[in-house]
Amino acid sequence: MVSTLRVSNGGAFTGTVFVPGDKSISHRAVMLGALSEGLTRVTGCLLSEDVLCTIDAFRTLGVQIDQNISACELLVHGVGLRGLKNPLEPIYVGNSGTSMRLMAGIFSGAGLSITITGDSSLSSRPMRRICEPLLQMGANLKTSSSGTAPLHIGENSGLQGITYMMPVASAQVKSCILLAGLYADTPTKVIECTPTRDHTETMFKTFGVRLALEGGAITLPVGQKLTACEVAVPADISSAAFFLVGGAIGLDSHISLKAVGVNSTRSGIIKILKMMNARIDVSNVRMCGGEKVADITVASSDLHGIEIPLDCVATAIDEFPAIFIAAACAKGVTVLRGGTELRHKESDRIEVMASGLRKLGVELETYEDGIKIVGGRLGSGMVDARGDHRVAMAFSIAALNATGKIAISNAEGIATSFPEFISMAKSAGLRVE
Ligand code: S3P
Repeated sequence: MVSTLRVSNGGAFTGTVFVPGDKSISHRAVMLGALSEGLTRVTGCLLSEDVLCTIDAFRTLGVQIDQNISACELLVHGVGLRGLKNPLEPIYVGNSGTSMRLMAGIFSGAGLSITITGDSSLSSRPMRRICEPLLQMGANLKTSSSGTAPLHIGENSGLQGITYMMPVASAQVKSCILLAGLYADTPTKVIECTPTRDHTETMFKTFGVRLALEGGAITLPVGQKLTACEVAVPADISSAAFFLVGGAIGLDSHISLKAVGVNSTRSGIIKILKMMNARIDVSNVRMCGGEKVADITVASSDLHGIEIPLDCVATAIDEFPAIFIAAACAKGVTVLRGGTELRHKESDRIEVMASGLRKLGVELETYEDGIKIVGGRLGSGMVDARGDHRVAMAFSIAALNATGKIAISNAEGIATSFPEFISMAKSAGLRVE
């Protein structure tokens, strides 16, 4: 993968796109398959760098995982909750926050002695948010003095359940606690003020884990066992987002996306783009392995700026790089507040997007928790994705509505979530050089 992407302006998105499997669901399918008893078959699995890190980690811990790359299919030979083996070396999970935070819960519960490391981006992301609840449960783990990876997990004398009121809206923190709770000898309860993606809860049920959901509270009783099953992974709405925005901003665009996950805890982007006057149509809504999926079409739209509703922030959290591009092409002003979490993603997405947009001539103002973007037409120039996959993809589709060429440096991160992005975007009409 080249590290500088050059995209000529113009073009249109047309045709039908089958974006690859959902990253969050693929990670969870590998993890729960590994902890279950029996053989789990995962179809439509995303085989990107991040998910391959999760697969490699569980292989290192003694789980047999057979991989049919062309069919995006995995066979995970579960070892049960207590069957993981201590590794000889640290486990490296690259850029993947989901791998690190969810595995910390599992490894603490299983009482393994293990170090988890990541790349420089992951090693600068906050880990105290998982350590605090895990320590309360009786885990034995340490971060660096700045609260970041590497995570050193040691043996412990057993976990107890806790009642944990989530201080941040984070599905990774919630999932980490619930996974650790599978091993606890008293019930575990997580209370969310802001609902976050609920794939762990949904997949727990598929694997036969009992769970009580009441308002924002999730209670996990003790004595659980996971039973192997079939998991069909829907297409990732976070990857689809680049085609949704590209279709809305590109002149003469009309594009269809098939079998995209539209779980209500993930589909904030559809609501936001509709509020911005995008011509989006969601049809053929159906269930696929416990998750709602749909076909989505989008056509060139006269977008206008909006105030993004606070209740859409968590449900569109990964889509803001793409949404900021839509805002920059819209008529009028778009304001996001309540988005402090964007500063803790693979990059500080408020700062990195603002700096790239400014280079393309966009007028904007940033806040600690958001951004105000004055829409118009994007110019041309060189922007730095700083290794963040979603920033790189967002700036590449921006070229559909720019007055000149856009070059994106440090774009190699795209492979962490969407290795096929460039070829799919090119076939759909993006003028990648
Ligand atoms: C994810 C949760 C979100 C999201 C990330 C994937 C998950 O992170 O940004 O890309 O799979 O649980 P947070 O939990 O930090 O919000």
